[in-house]
Amino acid sequence: MSSYVVTGVSKGLGFEFLRQLSKDPSNTVIGLVRDPASAKEKVSAELPDRSNIHILAGDLTNYDSLKTAAAETSAITGGSLDYLIANAAFMSTVDGFSAIGEIEPEVATDTLRKYMDTNVIGNLQLYNVFLPLILKGKVKKVVALTSGHADLDFINQFDIQVGSLYAASKGAMNIINAKYNTQYKKQGVLFLSISPGVVDTGNFDPSALTQKQLEALQVMMAGFQSYAPHFKGGLSPDVAAQNVLRVVENASIEKGDGGAFLSHFGNKQWL
Ligand SMILES: NC(=O)c1ccc[n+]([C@@H]2O[C@H](COP(=O)([O-])OP(=O)(O)OC[C@H]3O[C@@H](n4cnc5c(N)ncnc54)[C@H](OP(=O)(O)O)[C@@H]3O)[C@@H](O)[C@H]2O)c1
Repeated sequence: MSSYVVTGVSKGLGFEFLRQLSKDPSNTVIGLVRDPASAKEKVSAELPDRSNIHILAGDLTNYDSLKTAAAETSAITGGSLDYLIANAAFMSTVDGFSAIGEIEPEVATDTLRKYMDTNVIGNLQLYNVFLPLILKGKVKKVVALTSGHADLDFINQFDIQVGSLYAASKGAMNIINAKYNTQYKKQGVLFLSISPGVVDTGNFDPSALTQKQLEALQVMMAGFQSYAPHFKGGLSPDVAAQNVLRVVENASIEKGDGGAFLSHFGNKQWL
């Protein structure tokens, strides 16, 4: 019997978190989206009769929308929140399939700003508006979805060239989580950065890539193979969400997990 706020529940992992967490009718699950009308339609079609799901407007690049979402959440839950899952993220093909030096400087600047606005500043503001509710919650867990792409040893030892600007935003958010941990662990709030591994959320279309992008992707796949010879491809959102939620449940301040950057295995094994 817990309350959850999950951002970016329109699709992908976010929708899967919404689906899995709302299976227990005693949970209250609040999903933030940019387009509430279409998300409500999807929930009605795919998860009918789940009266414990609430869809609210919440755009990470619009502070007022987040403030309003926190006030609406408070009205639903009675002023508290157990779990905040910062799942939503901006992702771009600009750096997704290109090495950093291949990106035109103006394009790199514009793309990095978008990453920072959504994945770092947006989440920082999300934390600001929801922390008063978390402090009144029973469980007090705040989780940001991150990526193994932000692990420096992984990047350097396995030549993971692509995803540079994305990884920079995830690395920045890992730091923000650790800094929040240093301040709020005394009040019992656990902050975590969790990578779900590679998840097949239907966003990847190899036919849309140029020859150069395909080559960069092959370099990444070679790095993945050398890092994890068992790696065969992305996990389904269903399995990935279960993995992440298991790590969230097992982690605690008492076990020393405050501010940690963990994989879906609960350690530093990214694949
Ligand atoms: N998939 C993977 O392999 C993988 C690997 C490592 C980490 N992750 C992380 O896991 C999380 C979920 O990934 P995913 O693959 O499920 O992504 P996805 O399918 O692309 O979904 C992203 C979600 O974020 C929302 N979003 C984007 N910009 C937003 C904004 N400004 N305000 C509010 N919501 C916004 C999108 O909403 P709209 O529908 O409105 O666009 C969508 O609901 C992300 O943090 C991602 O970085 C994923």
